Amino acid sequence: MSDFQLTRTLDEDAADKALRADVLNGLTRFPKELPPKWFYDARGSELFEEITRLPEYYPTRAERQILLERAGEIAVVSGARTLVELGSGSSEKTRHLIEAMPGLRTYVPVDVSESALTGAGELLLAQHPGLRVHALLADFTKPLHLPDSEGPRLVVFLGGTIGNLLPPERAEFLASVRAMLSPGDALLLGTDLVKDEAVLVAAYDDAQGVTAEFNKNVLAVIDRELGADFHTADFDHVAVWNREREWIEMRLRARQAVTVKVRALDLLVPFEAGEDILTEISAKFRQDGVRKELAGAGLELTHWWTDASGRFALSLSVAGG
Ligand code: SAH
Ligand code: AVI
Repeated sequence: MSDFQLTRTLDEDAADKALRADVLNGLTRFPKELPPKWFYDARGSELFEEITRLPEYYPTRAERQILLERAGEIAVVSGARTLVELGSGSSEKTRHLIEAMPGLRTYVPVDVSESALTGAGELLLAQHPGLRVHALLADFTKPLHLPDSEGPRLVVFLGGTIGNLLPPERAEFLASVRAMLSPGDALLLGTDLVKDEAVLVAAYDDAQGVTAEFNKNVLAVIDRELGADFHTADFDHVAVWNREREWIEMRLRARQAVTVKVRALDLLVPFEAGEDILTEISAKFRQDGVRKELAGAGLELTHWWTDASGRFALSLSVAGG
């Protein structure tokens, strides 16, 4: 018996409105910026999967190593009957958790990428025919209406995607996760850790140029959806380590002065030569910082696991007293 359901909380109109607002707001301010969620159309989701297989991009492998080692313990400690995954993407690593959870009844992947949700759903149901998969096409930074399902619930947020949020966004996000948890529920959070700058920069500026293509994909999305005339060849991919904030900044830098027209907004966007659009931050963490951010949202860290080389961490937390 296969049981897959997709609920769209983002209709095309709402997504179009949100994109227009983000492009208008982000490209008329200085410095220019665009939110990273717009990377993930079908092509962007594919490119992200390609990134996860790059030799320089260690986070996926490091997190998988922890999951492989700890899935049994996580299953026992959480006792989860429902697994909710925010920013689930391909759900590829999540399989290790699902396989370790014989008591699991319902999996709720939440993502803005419909292609990722349907692809992951099909694969999972083929492997776990008894599992109920209720996918939510939704923005995890907005209030979520989760389907009714049996507790305890384990909410997972893997890949280090929390690092793509700014500190105030993280505080708001963690408070909203805290509000989702009933007694007995838990949060499993993946955080990439601070390490040598050269390792970090290489992970975001790979030799094959896949991350550059992923970064430039946001321009292709705006061209297609809003009738803009960005030419990806006019922009360079840039990845820099911000030592003070301890985050990677991904930017797109205009090679020369250029003016881009965004037809749907009736907007002209001038760029000076060398001017940047900030397209993503990817914050790196330390245990103490993670504990404090969780505590600030009323969550108590109970477990902290890292891979053998200490590159990446998974933490488990529960609603604090
Ligand atoms: N968790 C997976 C995928 C990480 S890529 C892994 O660890 O490999 C980040 C995922 O989050 C993408 O699938 C993207 O579509 C999704 N995403 C990014 N911003 C989002 C948002 N605001 N709301 C919901 N999903 C989002
Ligand atoms: C999804 N997120 C955790 C990735 C990261 O590492 O910040 C997105 C990414 N950007 C460039 N490469 C991967």
